[in-house]
Amino acid sequence: METISLTRFVLSEQKKVPEATGELTQLLSSIQTAVKVISSAVRRAGITKLFGTAGSTNVQGEEVKKLDILANELFINMLKSSYTVALLVSEENETVIEIETEKKGKYIVAFDPLDGSSNIDCLVSIGSIFAIWKKKSDKKSADISDALQPGNSVVAAGYALYGSATMMVLSIGTGVNGFMLDPSIGEFILTDIDMKIPKKGNIYAINEGYTHQWDDAIKEYVQNKKDPAKGKPYNARYVGSMVADVHRTIKYGGVFIYPATKSSPQGKLRLLYECIPMAFIITKAGGSASNGSIPILDIQPKALHERSPIILGSSDDVKEVLDVIKKHKK
Ligand code: AHM
Ligand code: MG
Repeated sequence: METISLTRFVLSEQKKVPEATGELTQLLSSIQTAVKVISSAVRRAGITKLFGTAGSTNVQGEEVKKLDILANELFINMLKSSYTVALLVSEENETVIEIETEKKGKYIVAFDPLDGSSNIDCLVSIGSIFAIWKKKSDKKSADISDALQPGNSVVAAGYALYGSATMMVLSIGTGVNGFMLDPSIGEFILTDIDMKIPKKGNIYAINEGYTHQWDDAIKEYVQNKKDPAKGKPYNARYVGSMVADVHRTIKYGGVFIYPATKSSPQGKLRLLYECIPMAFIITKAGGSASNGSIPILDIQPKALHERSPIILGSSDDVKEVLDVIKKHKK
């Protein structure tokens, strides 16, 4: 069988669009390099003493880990020096990151450089997440309105999973493809062609420790999934790293939920660099993603670090959750 690397794949996709300038190809190649370096740092973190906290907190008041900082710097430096971006939004930076005029390009990238911080030090899977938009107009300087675009305008999105192997999953708007990092040659190889999520699964993923904080609809849905009188009970799986939970959901089907809770009325996950990229991938793989009322991709973001409740996964399972929510709204 022919071996197709991520670089070759992106180049051949670019060739299908006659007016393409190669800027997106260059951008994706800079993300690919950042991901390779992060993967190698993650694999060696115990030896190079990169586990543990950096002694600071981020915009959201969360403890920052040494690997979080390294991954953020890698993403920023690689993207800046790709000459393809105008503005960057990172989970780790309070405001947008502006690019010097001589290095400016036409794209906006929002990213979570290393997601699943609570799993870093115990070797459980973690990941990186990103979404890419085009600057809204040809105006010279990009401003915050360019960074606050909905998921429906995303040009490409993806994630890297640092799991038992490192994998990059990417959608440039058409299908979703998965590339496994072959550490012996340092290249991402196309292994999962045109990924599709099962229409229905038998797994629910939610942090059940917050049951007392959920609204009645979520309580009822999860209770139903455990009740043999309501059908064959589902399996419970929850890694606590969104990338790992979403990747499993694409591969095996089922539903991933991070709902509103009493202490986080908007949920925990951030719209621009967690919910939107994952909703884009899931939707392109044939599944769906909602905030409980409307599709995640239809939400107009109002702030850089805005949060949203999220229900994503197999279309039949997401519909079942939404039906219970609708019933409770009546
Ligand atoms: P982080 O950005 O600080 O790593 O938090 C995001 C993570 C997601 O990967 C995961 O889905 C969620 O937080 C888990 O949160 P909880 O521990 O509340 O279940
Ligand atoms: Mg995160």
